Amino acid sequence: MNISIILAAGEGTRMNSNVPKVLHKVCGRPILEYVIDASKNANLEKNYVIVGHGEKEIKEKFKDHDIIFKTQPIGKNYPYGTGYAVMQAIDYIEDNSNVIILYGDTPLITDKTILKLMEYHKKNKNNGTVLTAFLDDPTGYGRIVRDEKGHILKIVEDKDATEEEKKLKETNSGIYCFNGKDLKSALKKIDNNNAQGEYYITDVITILKEKGNRVGAYIIDDPREIHGINSRIQLAFCEKIMRERINHKHMLEGITIINPENTYIESSVIIGKDSIIYPGTILTGDTIVGEDCIIGENSRIENSKIGNKVEIYSSTITESKVGDRCTIGPYAHLRPNCNLGKDIKIGNFVEVKNSTIGDGSKASHLAYIGDADVGEGVNIGCGVIFVNYNGHSKFRTVVEDNAFIGSNSNLIAPVIVRKRGYVAAGSTITDEVSEGSLSIARARQVNKDGWVDKKR
Ligand code: UD1
Ligand code: CA
Repeated sequence: MNISIILAAGEGTRMNSNVPKVLHKVCGRPILEYVIDASKNANLEKNYVIVGHGEKEIKEKFKDHDIIFKTQPIGKNYPYGTGYAVMQAIDYIEDNSNVIILYGDTPLITDKTILKLMEYHKKNKNNGTVLTAFLDDPTGYGRIVRDEKGHILKIVEDKDATEEEKKLKETNSGIYCFNGKDLKSALKKIDNNNAQGEYYITDVITILKEKGNRVGAYIIDDPREIHGINSRIQLAFCEKIMRERINHKHMLEGITIINPENTYIESSVIIGKDSIIYPGTILTGDTIVGEDCIIGENSRIENSKIGNKVEIYSSTITESKVGDRCTIGPYAHLRPNCNLGKDIKIGNFVEVKNSTIGDGSKASHLAYIGDADVGEGVNIGCGVIFVNYNGHSKFRTVVEDNAFIGSNSNLIAPVIVRKRGYVAAGSTITDEVSEGSLSIARARQVNKDGWVDKKR
């Protein structure tokens, strides 16, 4: 059996945060989730996650994932270190299993690399194999020390390294493949005799070597995959690489991204072919964008479903649905629970909340539509306000098909404008407007001839 042990019990001191390190997000998902996914996609049959600091939050966050948690005791009276973390799973390791060890703070690792590592490990009949990479700046990472023949001798931590060793560029990824039996026997021999007073899993390599076992290093194709997150600076670095990966995937699938460097698409987002995404756009959560859309500059769309051929400019849309061929913005705001049909225009400075709007309706400028059911072919004039709140409760407004709401009108909810009802500009509507009728609800104009001259 192939299993993984994912280490996520550490304190994450260098993040300087109240949030457990592995729950910090990269492109919208917790760091640890990427590692779990890579492990599962590499067909590792059982995935053990070692938790300690922030255990409760981590367990809660991943309660629906098919993983097995094991708790590492934390506190002054307990040892610490990656080796001690792996020891917590020792009872789960079978003699004949292949064990992949992963660190919960390296989200860029891919399933493909894990599979290649396992393949290399088996092909070379190794007892232990470490995944390594050549980094231009390996500061902070463990270094791989090899002998003159190029055989791996040991892994030395940055804090324990001599000046000579610090110059080595080959870096420990923190990802290993071990034969179950060999790992178990070596784990019993590691000590905490080092600069940090910690039990290092990296010492297993030396122990196996001394026993005369076969130990190897598999050098990764793309060194960027091994970057770990210890600080927020590294968090931003990984975010940049992940963003690039996500954007590349979309571009290869037929989406135009004008400037990928400042387009922020979370990994869960789906976009249809031939859509064009302009700079400054943020697409998050379970957002789905259809085909042939133009998502304009500086738009933010969260957990929303956008149809085909929709155009959105400089606008914010949250938890809403927008049908085919709608145009939104610039500077429109769809707040949660809006459901827009097809061919609708929501123009500049229009805010919509918790409302349905039927096909072909328009609110082209400066309106507030809240808690409303608007039919098809309705025209909502400039400056119209759906007055939905009396300071205590909210009420709904219904505007039926083909009604016309003149500019600068107030519809005081609860109220209904029936089919083809026509509200004169500047009206304050408190009663039902019946089908096909005109409603004028404003003071009459009075003209006082010569008034100005008389006043002077
Ligand atoms: C570790 C490696 C280093 C490697 C680097 C790669 C060791 C000793 N060092 O250093 O060689 O280059 O990762 O990113 O392994 N953890 C526990 N329990 C503990 C301590 C840590 O579960 O008691 C977990 C942490 O939550 C973290 C992971 O193990 O996810 C790695 O620990 P961290 O302290 O970040 O190790 P590094 O100093 O980065
Ligand atoms: Ca780390």
